[in-house]
Amino acid sequence: MTTTAAPPSTRRVDAWNRALTAHPGALDLTIRRDRVDGEIPHALRGGRLYSNGPGWNVIGGVNLHPFDGHGYVRSFSFESDGSVALRARFVDTPTYRDERRARHLIDRGLGTNPSESWWKNMQRGRARNVANTTVVRWRDRLVAGWEGGLPHALDPESLATRGEETFDGSIRGQVTLAHMKYEARTGRLITCSVRVGRKTRLTFREIDGADQVRATHEAELPGLAFVHDFALTPDWCIVGGNPIRLRVGALARSLLGTSTLIRAVATDERATPAMHLVSRKGRGLRTVRLPDAGWIVHFGNAFQVGETVVVDACVLPDFEFGEEFGYTGTSTPFDPSKPESRGRQTFYRVTIPSAGDARWEPLTRHGVDFPRFHPAHEGLETPVVFGATRADVRFSDPFDSVIRVDLVDRSRPDSLWSVSEEQFVGEPIFVPKPDDPADGWVLTIVTRPLDGRSELVVLDARDLARGPLATVPMPLLPLAFHGEWDSGASVSAE
Ligand SMILES: [Fe+2]
Repeated sequence: MTTTAAPPSTRRVDAWNRALTAHPGALDLTIRRDRVDGEIPHALRGGRLYSNGPGWNVIGGVNLHPFDGHGYVRSFSFESDGSVALRARFVDTPTYRDERRARHLIDRGLGTNPSESWWKNMQRGRARNVANTTVVRWRDRLVAGWEGGLPHALDPESLATRGEETFDGSIRGQVTLAHMKYEARTGRLITCSVRVGRKTRLTFREIDGADQVRATHEAELPGLAFVHDFALTPDWCIVGGNPIRLRVGALARSLLGTSTLIRAVATDERATPAMHLVSRKGRGLRTVRLPDAGWIVHFGNAFQVGETVVVDACVLPDFEFGEEFGYTGTSTPFDPSKPESRGRQTFYRVTIPSAGDARWEPLTRHGVDFPRFHPAHEGLETPVVFGATRADVRFSDPFDSVIRVDLVDRSRPDSLWSVSEEQFVGEPIFVPKPDDPADGWVLTIVTRPLDGRSELVVLDARDLARGPLATVPMPLLPLAFHGEWDSGASVSAE
C-alpha cells in the first residue's frame, strides 16, 4: 500500500537532512535554570534521560544509512537546582575507533557499502557493530543495543565504553536484538538472540540481578523472519511473523559487493500473516493467524487475561527495506516523503484467545510508532500509552507529534502535541508519578534543524495538548532512536 503525499518543500527536505546528519560530537554542557523556559518539575530532579541513535552519518563524504551510523549516547541529567547537564559520547566500538582514525567508512554496514568498488567491499570482512539502537540502564552500567551482534556496556556517569556486553558470557558470540525488556515483576532483563539460516531460531534469556541466566526459551520459526522487537507477558515472549524472502539477484550483488544486504531482503507476501508466541513455561511455540497482512517493527505492551493474550503493536501494511528514514544513497539527500509513501503504522490491540485466530482493533486513528508505557508494567495491563506520531492521520513518520492513548477509558479522545513541519519529535519517554500510573511526565527531544538547535521538552502526561511544562535549549542533536529514563534509584534485583 502506498500513500500519496505532496512533494516536500525544499525547507522540509533541508530540515530533514540537517536532523539526520547533525554531528556535534562529544558534549559536556550545562543548561542553566535561567535558560530553561518553564521549570523542570521537582519530582524529575535527580533523574536522567538517556538516548541512543546514530550520531555520525556522513563519513568521508559518504551518506550512511542511519542504521549504520555510529552509536551516540546522550545523557540529560536533571539537576537539583533546575538546570540540565548534557553529556554525549560515541560508543567506542572497534568499528568506531578504526573509522574515527581513518575518517572514512571501513566496515560494511547493513545499508551502506564503504566503497563504490565491489572488490574493495568484498575485502571488508568484519561485521559492523555501531551499538546505535537502544540504551538500557542495567545494574551498574548502561547497555547500548545493536541488532547485528553484541551490545556494548557504558559507564552511566562518564558514558565511557567498557566493552562488549555478554551478561557474564551468556550471549557471547550471539547476534542479540537491540531491544531488551526489563520486567519489574521479576527484576529480570529479557534478551533475545537470533540465528538466521533456512529458519529463524530465537533464544530468549531471562537474566537476573546478578547477571545470571535464570531461564531460557528457544523456538524455531518456519522460514526467514525479521525480528526487531518483542513483547512479554508472564507466560509468553511474543514476536511478529514478519516473513521475509531473499531477492536472489540482489543477494548475489550484495555478496559481490555491488549492493547492500538490506536491499537483498523483501517482505514475503505469500506467507500467512501471523504472530508467534514463545512459551516461558515450557509449552513451546504457538503461531496465531492475524486478521490481515501486517509488518510489526515495534510493540506496545502485552498482558494476559486468564489464557487470553492481549498485545498492542504498531503494524505497517508493508515494508520496503533500504529506504528507512528516506535514505536514497551514499551521495543523495534523505527524502522525507519516502517514509510517508509507505503508509500509516496502525496501532492495533491484538487479542489472542486461548485457541483460534487473533483479532485486532485500532487503538487510535493516528499512525503510531515508538510506543512507550509505564516502565514497571512490562507484561502487565497498563492504563496509558504514548507514542510518536503525525498530526496528519495518513502518515506515521517523520514524526511531528506526541500522542497519548488512554487504554482504560477508550472513549477519551487522544491527546496530541505537535510541532511544525520543519521540526521533528523523537520517542516519547513516560515518567509516571509513583502514586498514579496514568499521570506523570513525558519527555521528548524536539529537533529544530533550521533554527540550528534541539530542545528537550517536558510535557504533562495527563494533557499533552497543554504544551511543554519546560523546554530546555540544546545544540542541534542528530535524531535518536530509543531512550530510557533513569530515576536515579538502583535497579531492583532478585
Ligand atoms: Fe526499535
